Amino acid sequence: MQEKIDQYTADILAFSPANADELEAFRIKYLGTKGLIKDLFEEFKTVGPEEKRVFGKVLNQFKQMAEGKYAELKESLDSGAKTQDLGLDLTLPGDGFEVGSRHPLSLVRNEIIDIFKRLGFVVAEGPEIEDDWHNFSALNFPQEHPARDMQDTFFIRKGDGSDDIALRTHTSSVQVRMMENGKPPFRAIMPGRVYRNEAISARAHCFFHQVEGLYVDENVSFADLKQTLFHFVQELYGEGTKVRFRPSYFPFTEPSAEMDISCTICKGDGCNMCKYTGWVEILGCGMVDPNVLENCGIDSKKYTGFAFGMGIERITNLKYVIRDLRLFSENDVRFLKQFQTDII
Ligand code: PHE
Repeated sequence: MQEKIDQYTADILAFSPANADELEAFRIKYLGTKGLIKDLFEEFKTVGPEEKRVFGKVLNQFKQMAEGKYAELKESLDSGAKTQDLGLDLTLPGDGFEVGSRHPLSLVRNEIIDIFKRLGFVVAEGPEIEDDWHNFSALNFPQEHPARDMQDTFFIRKGDGSDDIALRTHTSSVQVRMMENGKPPFRAIMPGRVYRNEAISARAHCFFHQVEGLYVDENVSFADLKQTLFHFVQELYGEGTKVRFRPSYFPFTEPSAEMDISCTICKGDGCNMCKYTGWVEILGCGMVDPNVLENCGIDSKKYTGFAFGMGIERITNLKYVIRDLRLFSENDVRFLKQFQTDII
């Protein structure tokens, strides 16, 4: 009997089924109602009392071992079967996932914001649907004045036929809101989307993005304006970038100017980006017209200020040489992917 037990034990321990059928055959052979273990217990009944004492224990241990082995094999076969059903190999490495990239306009906007933040400017926002007062009248555009035509406006006609609501044509409207609702000093920039009624082409779009800025305090002068914008350009386009101011006209600033920088592509030698002049225009600016301050409830005898406004698309073009404005809003991933950044 001991011989048989030894033999079966060795066989059982060495057993490794390739599939469920083999395991079932194993169960029937050892643990079945007509199995070998059953036979051993039958044989046990026939042995003498001396052997009974020895084998009672041995036989029970052997049976437990066989049952344990069977349970163990069944479990590992079952869990293996599940993974096979799903067609998965859980040991394969993961697929990973693609990391997105920031939109070039967001990248440049954030860069502009960072530069002005370091100079103590805060960020202000306002609505894209504006009334006539905030977009025009408070900014010194008289009713029916041709200056209103400088910016082709999308008016929104209301039920009663009036159209004093419009999509904002510039974020100067946010400057008005800020001045109306606070007290000087003001030092803020206003990034945001603006709308103009233009036919869409490579060079124009019916919406674009601006960052405007406002600085109002006692004794603010044109020299402050020049120094602030000069510093901004050195930070954005690198030391040595030249600037020049040309007289211009805006209803809300007096004097007004447009600022050019030396062409970022050819460094002033002349190329088709700067139309062979060596200079490119990047923003409008000027001293806030005293009428605008008064319209917003600010004492223009005590306070002066400067304002400026730039298009983010233009600034981005000069940085990345993007020849067609439409690319910014078409969501073509092949275009957007080129601006990979560390965004996590
Ligand atoms: N609001 C002007 C525009 O949209 C830009 C500007 C802002 C000019 C502030 C001067 C001062 O064209």
